[in-house]
Amino acid sequence: MYDWLNALPKAELHLHLEGSLEPELLFALAERNKIKLPWHDVEALRGAYAFNNLQEFLDLYYQGADVLRTEQDFYDLTWAYLQKCQAQNVVHTEPFFDPQTHTDRGIPFEVVLRGIKQALVDGEKQLGISHGLILSFLRHLSEEQAFDTLEQAMPFRDAFVAVGLDSSELGHPPSKFQRVFAKARSEGLLTVAHAGEEGPPEYIWQALDLLKVQRIDHGVRASEDERLMQRLIDEQIPLTVCPLSNIKLRVFDDMRRHNILAMLERGVKVTVNSDDPAYFGGYVNENFAALHEALGMSEAQARRLAQNSLEARLV
Ligand code: HPA
Ligand code: ZN
Repeated sequence: MYDWLNALPKAELHLHLEGSLEPELLFALAERNKIKLPWHDVEALRGAYAFNNLQEFLDLYYQGADVLRTEQDFYDLTWAYLQKCQAQNVVHTEPFFDPQTHTDRGIPFEVVLRGIKQALVDGEKQLGISHGLILSFLRHLSEEQAFDTLEQAMPFRDAFVAVGLDSSELGHPPSKFQRVFAKARSEGLLTVAHAGEEGPPEYIWQALDLLKVQRIDHGVRASEDERLMQRLIDEQIPLTVCPLSNIKLRVFDDMRRHNILAMLERGVKVTVNSDDPAYFGGYVNENFAALHEALGMSEAQARRLAQNSLEARLV
């Protein structure tokens, strides 16, 4: 598929490791850990991947993550993703992981982190893929719980480059996490946040002004606010856009109405990412291919998008 797209060196800047859990691996881990699943087989699980909004997806995503129990499970998950990166010429990745999804089920923080980090280090050595890991807080939980998580992470401070903010956006504005992000910055961590996926442009303003983020994850609703658009352009603030995710979660009702190329042409530093590839129908290259097919993305535009991703790296 599209050799010219595959050949472009790319960075992936918006990828939830738990969202790269393919149904086949999910079933294999369930068997290894002797967990009974509510789906009869892989096909039945795939059949459940039909969502009307972010929350419907998140309910299944947290349920799927329950098969991840041991350090080896987290290693295998991360390694499978890195092999996709290699196949698609993703030369650098800055993935998220959601520690609270696991610690709230009784999995120790260090079990999660050790498995992920060992695979990333091996990926660097064996596959030549560099990385910067991002610890993401679940925004539907309290700021107090985010503080607890940050505290658990601090003995492993050097394993991360940044903190992020994900999960249910509506009703959980960035302002809720202002203090814990300030604490993370005081520890030398960089910051990013999901904003303007389902939430209003105001949440993007808050992410910039209150959380002092280096990048906005998604951010597609910025196009509703002209003053914000101008700021993103003037300050060249990167947006980590996830086209297939946006269609699957009905942020746009059709790829032909997606605004990523219009933003690119206005000078916004947009990038292409897969978000939760196991759930949304593809990795980075499938996202690029969808833009080519639905929006007529040219080779020159693809090159600029890929170049943006390399320039928008945190590390
Ligand atoms: N948005 C918010 N939270 C998430 C997402 C997303 O697209 N994917 C995984 N957690
Ligand atoms: Zn995301």
